Amino acid sequence: MKILFVNASPHSETSHGYGLAVEMIRSACRTAHSALVKRDLVSTPLPPITQDYAKAITSREPDVSLFDVSEQLIREIEMTDALIINTPMHNFTVPAALKLWIDYVLRVHRTFAVTPEGKVGLMRDRPTFVIVGSGGFHSGERAWQGDFLTPYLRYALASIGLKDAHFVLLQGLTHGEEAVADALQRAREEIARHPLFASDNTIVS
Ligand SMILES: Cc1cc2nc3c(=O)[nH]c(=O)nc-3n(C[C@H](O)[C@H](O)[C@H](O)COP(=O)(O)O)c2cc1C
Repeated sequence: MKILFVNASPHSETSHGYGLAVEMIRSACRTAHSALVKRDLVSTPLPPITQDYAKAITSREPDVSLFDVSEQLIREIEMTDALIINTPMHNFTVPAALKLWIDYVLRVHRTFAVTPEGKVGLMRDRPTFVIVGSGGFHSGERAWQGDFLTPYLRYALASIGLKDAHFVLLQGLTHGEEAVADALQRAREEIARHPLFASDNTIVS
């Protein structure tokens, strides 16, 4: 089992979602042949999209050296069997660091093709777990704000072929210790139902 772990939380290791991701990685990677590829979008920020890159992706004969960053990020996905993404909700959607990763990974003629029926993903599907940390609530009975993160990210991942996406919500993280413990408990129960983390692979903190 090879896992790509993408972190987009500015709190990195102290983020609740990051801790949960580490538990998931430990649970899934118990065999000797397991491997982990880490991509921390906060400690190692990606360069902004330049004019040259923007021109290259729409050019018929691009200078391929301009795709180096994009290629590296795409290969990190290609070399792994499953993805775990830890992201906070920032102003109802993905944080800028994760948006930049998306802008490099979704590349025409490389990870998706444009057809008369629309964009078609060119990547092999693989389980993708997205841990979404939010201060408040955007789903369920207590929801009081819009959620442009989960539908957007689900759509973006599906457009390159990553359709087996599971969103694990950690809501109410700024509502005190009890709310945090409750969110983590629900998330662990949900994750343990997936075969990658199930039964003898019980999630332990
Ligand atoms: C710039 C910024 C914008 C935020 N926007 C939202 C928001 O729209 N909705 C929400 O519920 N929480 C929002 N929050 C709170 C974070 O989602 C919350 O702190 C969460 O715990 C972050 O998860 P993390 O600890 O894994 O980074 C925002 C935080 C920051 C820093």
